[in-house]
Amino acid sequence: MKIAVVGTGYVGLVTGTCFAETGNDVTCVDIDRRKVEKLANGEITIYEPGLEKLFLRNLKEGRLNFTTDLEAGIKDASIVFLALPTPPGEDGSADLKYVLGVAEDIGKLLTDYKVLVDKSTVPVGTAEKVHAAVAKNYTGEFDIVSNPEFLREGVAVDDFMKPDRVVIGTSSERARKLMGELYSPFVRSGNPVIYMDERSAELTKYAANSFLATKISFMNEIAQLCEKLGADVDMVRLGIGSDDRIGKRFLFPGIGYGGSCFPKDVQALVKSSREVAYDFQILNAVMDVNEKQKLHLLPKVRRYFKDDLKGKHFALWGLAFKPNTDDIREAPALYIIEELLAAGATVTAFDPEAMKNVRQAIGDRINYAENQYDALKGADALIIATEWNEFRTPDFLKIVTSLKNKAIFDGRNLFDVAAIAELGFHYESIGRKA
Ligand code: UGA
Repeated sequence: MKIAVVGTGYVGLVTGTCFAETGNDVTCVDIDRRKVEKLANGEITIYEPGLEKLFLRNLKEGRLNFTTDLEAGIKDASIVFLALPTPPGEDGSADLKYVLGVAEDIGKLLTDYKVLVDKSTVPVGTAEKVHAAVAKNYTGEFDIVSNPEFLREGVAVDDFMKPDRVVIGTSSERARKLMGELYSPFVRSGNPVIYMDERSAELTKYAANSFLATKISFMNEIAQLCEKLGADVDMVRLGIGSDDRIGKRFLFPGIGYGGSCFPKDVQALVKSSREVAYDFQILNAVMDVNEKQKLHLLPKVRRYFKDDLKGKHFALWGLAFKPNTDDIREAPALYIIEELLAAGATVTAFDPEAMKNVRQAIGDRINYAENQYDALKGADALIIATEWNEFRTPDFLKIVTSLKNKAIFDGRNLFDVAAIAELGFHYESIGRKA
């Protein structure tokens, strides 16, 4: 099948590459000339484990192409994916200017039937708006499909190739057939393609992310309670997670959810609800809890240092909002840094992938270390903000010899409380007995 993907950001590039991998002829279109040049020359523009290999192979074998020319890019395609940014506007609602702008442009260029697919996370009712934007300039036949993506950064290729489900929202039988054919290689394992109307598909995406965010905020509140009641959140997590109705996944407490999706999508769903005079009470609480949770480690640090952080120096392991990504959007580490600096402390950080992005965002307001142990030199304590695998079983002897105090504040519950106490550390984590 011939496919076009408009927008070569994170979603667009993963989508284009994975469709090429299953034998389709894919053209990716972007207005950013430099980015298109880089991609066409085999230089990948995002960090995503496993993607580069597929990207290079499909590029070499000619199934993956890049262009800035929208007309040429979509000319022969039977399906055109829109993978465009939908940044939150000032009021928290998704800004559709890019999606609708491209839809209008496509309307000017269409000469035959095509399916246009919304891949971006867009508010309920967007499919109708996209339809209207295309129809401004084109009176022929075309269909709009809402096909939300459920990719997690860091495992996006796997999520795309082996999806738990594919959601296809369309009222057109013709579009449904084409989309079913395109996705058939991805659901061989028996996971479902779920067909529904456009509005339900659009809401499914927000409901999925908001539900997961709710699970996290719920567990973060249970963790707070554990600390006050002398219970252990790991035990409670195992105790409730074994119930199939609750499930084991996404029950890990920490220092709040971050990234480009959960914070934005929860906020956007609250905003959409308000627009139809509905107060989505649970989600307001989910956001409040998350804001507080990002700074949950700080009172513990302050208490240890008797409320005087001035002149103290901290080693910080982890900057990315989660492991296996260089993404620092809404990363709890950044909030922790701001609090420490405001209190007169200094910070040396290490992250395997995200230091470049942090340097771009906040420059030399903190120091950056070559590796995780370098970050410890002369520090008063260690703070852990991201659960990279390489932080899980560190050389504790090196930690002891580098830190001024044997103190670790762990926002991701990486270490066994009893084992680390035996090593003589002052260790504080989330929702567990110190
Ligand atoms: C999320 C969803 O998981 C994807 O299904 C969705 O497609 C994507 O958003 C999107 O809308 O594009 P992502 O933001 O990449 O994916 O990250 P997750 O792995 O879901 O983690 C989100 C946040 O939750 C992270 O900050 C993570 O640390 C936190 N988290 C996750 C917890 O605090 N506890 C958990 O148990 C799980």
